[in-house]
Amino acid sequence: MFHVKHPAVARRPPRVLGLAPTMAKTIAVANQKGGVGKTTTAVNLAAIIASWGSRVLLVDADPQGNATSGIGVQRGSFRRGLYHTVVLNEPISNIALSTSIPMLKVVPSNKDLAGAEVELVGLEKREFQLKSALAAVENDYDYIFIDCPPSLGLLTLNALTAAKSLLVPIQCEYYALEGVTELFDTLARLRRLHNPGLMIEGLLLTMYDERTNLSAAVAADLRDFYGLQVFQTVIPRNVKLAEAPSYGKPIINYDAHSKGADAYSQLAREIIHESKSARSGAGGAPVV
Ligand SMILES: Nc1ncnc2c1ncn2[C@@H]1O[C@H](COP(=O)(O)OP(=O)(O)O)[C@@H](O)[C@H]1O
Ligand SMILES: [Mg+2]
Repeated sequence: MFHVKHPAVARRPPRVLGLAPTMAKTIAVANQKGGVGKTTTAVNLAAIIASWGSRVLLVDADPQGNATSGIGVQRGSFRRGLYHTVVLNEPISNIALSTSIPMLKVVPSNKDLAGAEVELVGLEKREFQLKSALAAVENDYDYIFIDCPPSLGLLTLNALTAAKSLLVPIQCEYYALEGVTELFDTLARLRRLHNPGLMIEGLLLTMYDERTNLSAAVAADLRDFYGLQVFQTVIPRNVKLAEAPSYGKPIINYDAHSKGADAYSQLAREIIHESKSARSGAGGAPVV
């Protein structure tokens, strides 16, 4: 018998090899504010890490379907999506679609998913639907990224219950920190009730504009307050990142040499190598 290496293992850069999880590491990208960079972060991290050879699943948990279209799956080109999984218990393996990146699959969503917020309410294990669905595929992927909707409703609670860690994009603007406290209150409650092991993957500064004092002030405030839980990587405001989704492409396939591509690659390295090992002690502790 020949021992054939799984392509993910064969192609993974050596430095990643020993560190890659055997069971999927599930990261929820959440912030109940809209327009802070959740989808941009989920799509681009998923694409970059998959392009490096890990097996990645991108779960679109927002009825707006921006992660779905952003990764190149057109609205109307699929019949079944996350709704069918969390409400109708269809296996993820029947729902996940291939993308232009060989190691990346996506669980697509569209407006149907909005019904889930209502229909889940009647279910006994309503917060656990996504967790149960993902449990069946957690050996099939190294990383699972869940792109959350801009609310703290049942879809986000399902994502936070299913996740091992939470990544919070925070836009560098005046009211940036508003809402983060509320998110962490939800996190504390969720840890108590449903997912005691939920870690903070990190807080991510997005749309950073180095020409403004405001961006620098927001960044300084956030680091003062949350310290090592803030990623070293900062995502700059970069027009290429904003243009790429309209072509259904992640940044690495749209403009691989842009500042946006560099920044998300650096973030991906930070996540993979847990170069935040200094942060990992703080990672498990409640931040409130
Ligand atoms: N770093 C960035 N630079 C420029 N535009 C960005 C950046 N990140 C996100 N955008 C754009 O800002 C808008 C909101 O980002 P998005 O990722 O959709 O946020 P969310 O998912 O939190 O609502 C989108 O039009 C997106 O293309
Ligand atoms: Mg979004």
